Amino acid sequence: MNNYLEKFEKMRVAGNLAARTLDMLTENIKPGITTDYVDKLGYEFIRDHGGYSAPLYYRGFKKSLCTSLNHVVCHGIPSDGVLSEGDTINVDVTAVVDEHYGDTSRMFCLGETSVKVNNLIDATYESMMKSIKILKPGLKLGDIGYEIQSFIEKKGFSVVRDFCGHGISTTFHEPPNVLHYGRKDSGMELKPGMTFTIEPMINAGKWDIKMLNDGWTAVTKDKSLSAQFEHTLGITENGYEIFTESVKGYAKPPYL
Ligand code: MF3
Ligand code: CO
Ligand code: CO
Repeated sequence: MNNYLEKFEKMRVAGNLAARTLDMLTENIKPGITTDYVDKLGYEFIRDHGGYSAPLYYRGFKKSLCTSLNHVVCHGIPSDGVLSEGDTINVDVTAVVDEHYGDTSRMFCLGETSVKVNNLIDATYESMMKSIKILKPGLKLGDIGYEIQSFIEKKGFSVVRDFCGHGISTTFHEPPNVLHYGRKDSGMELKPGMTFTIEPMINAGKWDIKMLNDGWTAVTKDKSLSAQFEHTLGITENGYEIFTESVKGYAKPPYL
C-alpha cells in the first residue's frame, strides 16, 4: 500500500489556507462592495499566507477566485459589479501550497433573504454533508451521487448535471469525476489515500444550464436561483478527512 500520509499532510495545509480565506471573506462580504474587491482580498490573503490562487491564469481565467451570484451556477468572474442587499453569492477559493491544492466554496447571503432561498442553501449544504458522512473505503462513487440526488429531489430542487466534483492533489482537476447524481453501488470503489472534491450545484428550478459568452459563467436556463458548497476530502483507512473545514465554525449561513 502506498503511503499517503505525506500527501494528506500537504492537502491539510492547502485546504486549511483555502478555508481560512473563506473565513476571512465571511467577515468582509457585505452590500456595497464589488466582486473584484472580494477577488483582491482573496488573492492577497492567499499570497500573504504562503500560497497562490489556482484559478489565476488557469485555462485563461483572469481572476483569483470565482464569484457566482444568484442564478449563476458556477465559475462567475469577479467584476466591478456591486453586491446588493438580498443577493446570494457563492465564493469558490482554490489555494496551492507546496504544489498541493485545496478547493472549497461556500454560500453567502447579503442581508435578508427569503425562506425559499434559505431552504435552497440549507438543502445544498445538507446534501454535501450527507454524502461526506458516508465516505469510507469500499463505498462507490455512485453512492455519493445517489445520496445527494435523492435528498435534493425529495425537496423539489434539482442537481446540475454539467459540472462535477473531481480528483485533486498535485493537480487542480484530475480523475475521477465525482458526479452529484447517480445510482447506488455503481462506479469506482473508494480506496484509502484517494483525494477529491464534492461540490454539488443545486437549482431551485430545473437543472439545465446555459453558458454565457465569456466562456466561463454558467447560469440556470430558467433563471432560477442556484446554490453550491464544496469541500476537498481524503479517504482514510476507515472513513474520511475534510481538508477544508472552517477554522471559525463558518460552515453555512447565517455565519455571524
Ligand atoms: N474551483 C472550481 C472547482 O471547484 C474551478 C474553477 S476554475 C476557474 O473546480 F478557472 F474558473 F477558476
Ligand atoms: Co472543485
Ligand atoms: Co472550487
